[in-house]
Amino acid sequence: MNYWTVIPAAGQGKRMNAGISKQWIELLGKPVLAHTLDVFEKDPACAGIILVGSEQELQQMQNFVQTFQYTKVRQIVPGGEERQQSVYEGLKKVPEDADLVLVHDAARPFITIDSIGQLVNKAVDTGSAVLAVPVKDTVKRVVQHQVEETIDRSSLWAVQTPQAFRLSIVKRAHEEADSDGYLGTDDASLVERIGETVAIVMGDYHNIKLTTSDDLLYGQAILLERQG
Ligand code: CTP
Ligand code: MG
Repeated sequence: MNYWTVIPAAGQGKRMNAGISKQWIELLGKPVLAHTLDVFEKDPACAGIILVGSEQELQQMQNFVQTFQYTKVRQIVPGGEERQQSVYEGLKKVPEDADLVLVHDAARPFITIDSIGQLVNKAVDTGSAVLAVPVKDTVKRVVQHQVEETIDRSSLWAVQTPQAFRLSIVKRAHEEADSDGYLGTDDASLVERIGETVAIVMGDYHNIKLTTSDDLLYGQAILLERQG
Protein backbone atom coordinates (compact mmCIF):
# COMPACT_ATOMS: atom_id res chain seq x y z
CA MET A 1 0.00 0.00 0.00
CA ASN A 2 1.09 3.57 -0.70
CA TYR A 3 1.94 5.88 2.17
CA TRP A 4 2.84 9.51 2.87
CA THR A 5 5.79 10.49 5.06
CA VAL A 6 6.25 13.38 7.47
CA ILE A 7 9.92 14.10 8.15
CA PRO A 8 10.60 16.33 11.17
CA ALA A 9 13.90 18.16 10.58
CA ALA A 10 13.35 21.31 12.62
CA GLY A 11 15.56 20.50 15.61
CA GLN A 12 18.77 22.25 16.61
CA GLY A 13 20.96 19.23 17.34
CA LYS A 14 22.03 20.56 20.72
CA ARG A 15 23.39 17.23 21.95
CA MET A 16 25.43 16.79 18.76
CA ASN A 17 26.95 20.20 19.36
CA ALA A 18 28.24 20.44 15.77
CA GLY A 19 27.49 24.12 15.23
CA ILE A 20 24.91 23.19 12.57
CA SER A 21 21.70 21.20 12.87
CA LYS A 22 22.11 17.48 12.36
CA GLN A 23 20.54 17.17 8.92
CA TRP A 24 23.32 19.25 7.34
CA ILE A 25 26.19 17.20 8.75
CA GLU A 26 27.89 15.31 5.92
CA LEU A 27 28.45 11.56 6.08
CA LEU A 28 30.71 10.26 3.30
CA GLY A 29 30.26 13.56 1.49
CA LYS A 30 26.46 13.71 1.61
CA PRO A 31 24.24 15.57 4.10
CA VAL A 32 22.31 13.43 6.59
CA LEU A 33 19.04 14.79 5.20
CA ALA A 34 19.97 13.54 1.72
CA HIS A 35 20.72 10.06 3.05
CA THR A 36 17.27 10.04 4.69
CA LEU A 37 15.31 11.51 1.78
CA ASP A 38 17.02 9.20 -0.76
CA VAL A 39 15.34 6.17 0.82
CA PHE A 40 11.80 7.57 0.57
CA GLU A 41 12.43 9.09 -2.86
CA LYS A 42 13.48 5.64 -4.12
CA ASP A 43 10.68 3.68 -2.46
CA PRO A 44 7.89 3.26 -5.06
CA ALA A 45 5.32 2.95 -2.26
CA CYS A 46 6.06 6.47 -0.96
CA ALA A 47 3.48 8.80 -2.48
CA GLY A 48 4.72 12.08 -1.04
CA ILE A 49 6.85 13.71 1.64
CA ILE A 50 6.11 16.65 3.94
CA LEU A 51 9.38 18.07 5.21
CA VAL A 52 9.35 20.12 8.42
CA GLY A 53 12.15 22.62 8.97
CA SER A 54 12.89 25.40 11.40
CA GLU A 55 11.70 28.87 10.39
CA GLN A 56 15.30 30.10 9.94
CA GLU A 57 16.26 27.17 7.70
CA LEU A 58 13.22 27.05 5.40
CA GLN A 59 14.97 28.81 2.53
CA GLN A 60 18.06 26.63 2.89
CA MET A 61 15.79 23.58 2.83
CA GLN A 62 13.95 24.79 -0.30
CA ASN A 63 17.28 25.26 -2.07
CA PHE A 64 18.50 21.88 -0.91
CA VAL A 65 15.39 20.07 -2.16
CA GLN A 66 15.69 21.81 -5.52
CA THR A 67 19.39 21.07 -5.90
CA PHE A 68 18.99 17.39 -5.07
CA GLN A 69 15.75 17.24 -7.13
CA TYR A 70 13.58 15.49 -4.59
CA THR A 71 10.38 15.23 -6.61
CA LYS A 72 8.38 13.63 -3.79
CA VAL A 73 8.82 16.51 -1.35
CA ARG A 74 5.41 18.16 -1.74
CA GLN A 75 5.69 20.82 0.95
CA ILE A 76 8.25 22.27 3.32
CA VAL A 77 6.60 23.66 6.43
CA PRO A 78 7.88 25.45 9.54
CA GLY A 79 8.08 23.35 12.70
CA GLY A 80 7.61 24.18 16.36
CA GLU A 81 9.59 24.38 19.58
CA GLU A 82 9.20 20.67 20.28
CA ARG A 83 9.45 17.71 17.93
CA GLN A 84 5.81 16.84 18.63
CA GLN A 85 4.68 20.26 17.41
CA SER A 86 6.81 19.90 14.28
CA VAL A 87 5.20 16.54 13.49
CA TYR A 88 1.74 18.01 14.13
CA GLU A 89 2.40 20.82 11.66
CA GLY A 90 3.55 18.26 9.09
CA LEU A 91 0.52 16.03 9.60
CA LYS A 92 -1.80 18.95 8.87
CA LYS A 93 -0.39 19.06 5.33
CA VAL A 94 -0.85 15.39 4.47
CA PRO A 95 -3.72 15.05 1.95
CA GLU A 96 -7.00 14.00 3.58
CA ASP A 97 -7.35 11.02 1.27
CA ALA A 98 -4.04 9.47 2.31
CA ASP A 99 -4.67 6.23 4.21
CA LEU A 100 -1.34 5.65 5.83
CA VAL A 101 1.26 8.09 7.09
CA LEU A 102 4.78 7.42 8.34
CA VAL A 103 6.61 9.76 10.69
CA HIS A 104 10.37 9.49 10.33
CA ASP A 105 13.14 11.54 11.95
CA ALA A 106 15.51 13.26 9.54
CA ALA A 107 18.27 12.26 11.95
CA ARG A 108 17.76 8.51 11.25
CA PRO A 109 19.42 8.18 7.84
CA PHE A 110 20.10 4.40 7.88
CA ILE A 111 16.51 3.28 7.44
CA THR A 112 15.98 0.75 4.62
CA ILE A 113 13.15 0.24 2.12
CA ASP A 114 12.94 -3.33 3.40
CA SER A 115 12.16 -2.24 6.99
CA ILE A 116 9.68 0.34 5.72
CA GLY A 117 7.87 -2.37 3.75
CA GLN A 118 7.52 -4.61 6.80
CA LEU A 119 6.29 -1.70 8.90
CA VAL A 120 3.74 -0.63 6.30
CA ASN A 121 2.36 -4.16 5.97
CA LYS A 122 1.84 -4.34 9.73
CA ALA A 123 0.22 -0.91 9.97
CA VAL A 124 -2.19 -1.76 7.16
CA ASP A 125 -3.39 -4.71 9.26
CA THR A 126 -3.39 -3.07 12.69
CA GLY A 127 -3.74 0.70 12.24
CA SER A 128 -0.54 1.61 14.09
CA ALA A 129 2.93 0.07 14.08
CA VAL A 130 6.46 1.07 15.06
CA LEU A 131 9.92 -0.31 14.38
CA ALA A 132 11.77 -1.37 17.51
CA VAL A 133 14.65 -3.56 18.67
CA PRO A 134 15.06 -5.52 21.91
CA VAL A 135 17.09 -3.62 24.50
CA LYS A 136 20.58 -5.13 24.84
CA ASP A 137 21.74 -3.42 28.02
CA THR A 138 20.52 -4.07 31.53
CA VAL A 139 18.40 -1.07 32.43
CA LYS A 140 18.11 0.27 35.98
CA ARG A 141 15.95 3.00 37.42
CA VAL A 142 18.30 5.38 39.20
CA VAL A 143 17.59 8.23 41.59
CA GLN A 144 20.44 10.46 42.74
CA HIS A 145 23.10 8.01 41.54
CA GLN A 146 21.54 5.13 43.45
CA VAL A 147 19.82 2.15 41.94
CA GLU A 148 16.13 2.00 42.76
CA GLU A 149 15.24 -0.96 40.60
CA THR A 150 16.52 -3.29 37.89
CA ILE A 151 13.89 -3.52 35.19
CA ASP A 152 13.12 -6.87 33.59
CA ARG A 153 14.80 -6.54 30.21
CA SER A 154 12.86 -9.32 28.51
CA SER A 155 9.92 -7.01 27.87
CA LEU A 156 11.88 -3.87 26.94
CA TRP A 157 12.19 -2.66 23.36
CA ALA A 158 13.93 0.46 22.08
CA VAL A 159 11.55 2.21 19.72
CA GLN A 160 12.69 3.83 16.49
CA THR A 161 11.17 5.66 13.58
CA PRO A 162 9.51 5.35 11.13
CA GLN A 163 6.27 4.94 13.00
CA ALA A 164 3.28 4.19 10.78
CA PHE A 165 -0.34 5.08 11.38
CA ARG A 166 -3.68 5.32 9.72
CA LEU A 167 -3.90 9.07 9.08
CA SER A 168 -7.18 9.49 10.99
CA ILE A 169 -5.71 7.83 14.11
CA VAL A 170 -2.49 9.81 14.33
CA LYS A 171 -4.24 13.10 13.56
CA ARG A 172 -6.75 12.52 16.35
CA ALA A 173 -3.91 11.52 18.71
CA HIS A 174 -2.03 14.75 17.97
CA GLU A 175 -5.16 16.90 18.23
CA GLU A 176 -5.99 15.45 21.65
CA ALA A 177 -2.40 15.72 22.91
CA ASP A 178 -2.32 19.32 21.75
CA SER A 179 -5.57 20.27 23.47
CA ASP A 180 -4.58 18.38 26.66
CA GLY A 181 -1.09 19.91 26.73
CA TYR A 182 0.44 16.41 26.69
CA LEU A 183 4.01 16.11 25.46
CA GLY A 184 5.31 12.66 24.52
CA THR A 185 8.71 11.59 23.26
CA ASP A 186 7.33 9.79 20.23
CA ASP A 187 4.14 9.76 18.15
CA ALA A 188 3.09 6.26 19.18
CA SER A 189 2.80 7.39 22.81
CA LEU A 190 0.12 9.89 21.72
CA VAL A 191 -1.71 7.11 19.89
CA GLU A 192 -1.45 4.82 22.94
CA ARG A 193 -3.04 7.44 25.18
CA ILE A 194 -6.17 7.60 23.03
CA GLY A 195 -6.62 3.87 23.55
CA GLU A 196 -5.32 2.55 20.24
CA THR A 197 -3.03 -0.48 20.18
CA VAL A 198 0.40 -0.10 18.65
CA ALA A 199 2.11 -3.11 17.05
CA ILE A 200 5.86 -3.69 17.17
CA VAL A 201 7.81 -4.67 14.08
CA MET A 202 11.36 -5.96 14.50
CA GLY A 203 13.68 -3.18 13.36
CA ASP A 204 17.37 -3.08 12.56
CA TYR A 205 20.11 -2.16 15.06
CA HIS A 206 21.72 -0.09 12.30
CA ASN A 207 18.70 2.24 12.21
CA ILE A 208 20.25 4.54 14.81
CA LYS A 209 19.31 8.14 15.46
CA LEU A 210 22.28 10.47 15.19
CA THR A 211 22.19 12.13 18.59
CA THR A 212 25.74 12.66 19.91
CA SER A 213 29.05 12.91 18.05
CA ASP A 214 30.01 9.28 18.67
CA ASP A 215 26.99 8.24 16.59
CA LEU A 216 28.69 9.80 13.55
CA LEU A 217 31.56 7.32 13.82
CA TYR A 218 29.16 4.40 13.91
CA GLY A 219 27.12 5.95 11.10
CA GLN A 220 30.12 6.19 8.82
CA ALA A 221 30.96 2.56 9.50
CA ILE A 222 27.40 1.55 8.55
CA LEU A 223 27.63 3.42 5.25
CA LEU A 224 31.07 1.97 4.45
CA GLU A 225 29.81 -1.54 5.15
CA ARG A 226 26.81 -0.98 2.85
CA GLN A 227 29.05 0.35 0.09
CA GLY A 228 30.82 -3.04 0.21
N1 CTP B 1 12.83 17.92 15.50
C1 CTP B 1 11.90 18.79 14.93
N2 CTP B 1 11.43 19.86 15.65
C2 CTP B 1 11.87 20.09 16.90
C3 CTP B 1 12.80 19.21 17.50
C4 CTP B 1 13.27 18.12 16.77
O1 CTP B 1 11.49 18.59 13.78
N3 CTP B 1 11.41 21.16 17.57
C5 CTP B 1 13.36 16.80 14.70
C6 CTP B 1 14.88 16.80 14.57
O2 CTP B 1 15.27 17.65 13.50
C7 CTP B 1 15.19 15.33 14.36
C8 CTP B 1 14.04 14.60 15.05
O3 CTP B 1 13.03 15.58 15.32
O4 CTP B 1 15.22 14.96 13.00
C9 CTP B 1 14.48 13.88 16.32
O5 CTP B 1 14.80 14.83 17.31
P1 CTP B 1 16.21 14.92 18.05
O6 CTP B 1 17.04 13.72 17.76
O7 CTP B 1 15.95 15.29 19.46
O8 CTP B 1 16.92 16.14 17.27
P2 CTP B 1 17.24 17.60 17.80
O9 CTP B 1 16.08 18.10 18.57
O10 CTP B 1 17.70 18.37 16.63
O11 CTP B 1 18.49 17.32 18.75
P3 CTP B 1 18.67 17.83 20.28
O12 CTP B 1 17.49 17.28 21.05
O13 CTP B 1 19.96 17.22 20.70
O14 CTP B 1 18.70 19.32 20.23
MG1 MG C 1 15.44 17.08 20.42
